[in-house]
Amino acid sequence: MKRLQSLIVLLAAVGISGCDPDARGFSLPPGDIVRGEQVFKDMQCLSCHTMDGYERPGNTEDLAVALGGKVKSVKTYGELVTSVINPSHKLARGYDLSQIQTEAGESVMPVYNDIMTVSEMVDLVTFLESKYELEPYETTDYRSYR
Ligand code: HEC
Repeated sequence: MKRLQSLIVLLAAVGISGCDPDARGFSLPPGDIVRGEQVFKDMQCLSCHTMDGYERPGNTEDLAVALGGKVKSVKTYGELVTSVINPSHKLARGYDLSQIQTEAGESVMPVYNDIMTVSEMVDLVTFLESKYELEPYETTDYRSYR
């Protein structure tokens, strides 16, 4: 039983650390949160996104995909990089599909890959990552069911 438990713990750890063979050897340099915030503003991410503490420019009643804040499962750095450089890879959940994807099934989020430098992307993702906060599920107190 003990052994089975440690096996499960080991498997979970491998899963969490993301031993994805495709990502082996993938490593980006550290980013700068302050510069990333500037990229976030300059690239007008707020025209489709909301983020706590940031005013949205002008007339933006349509799209409001929330970024950052308290989440039950924090997005990994890799997921955030993917969201920025390959937005159609996996569409955000919980939104009306007709609002967030084109007829061809792609994300309406623009692809910035030809206008953003790699350094800007690294800073931007470092900034985004700093804005998510894990809000753990409440633990169930089974003692009260006795
Ligand atoms: C034209 C509107 C638009 C603009 C501008 C835009 N996005 Fe998005 N973004 C979306 C939509 C729609 C989604 C949800 C669909 C998807 O996941 O691609 C999204 C999803 C995301 C996600 C994933 C969110 C999640 O919860 O899975 C991230 C991260 C993100 N955008 C970051 C950015 C950043 C950073 C910028 C600025 C460089 C930006 N977006 C600019 C429309 C936009």
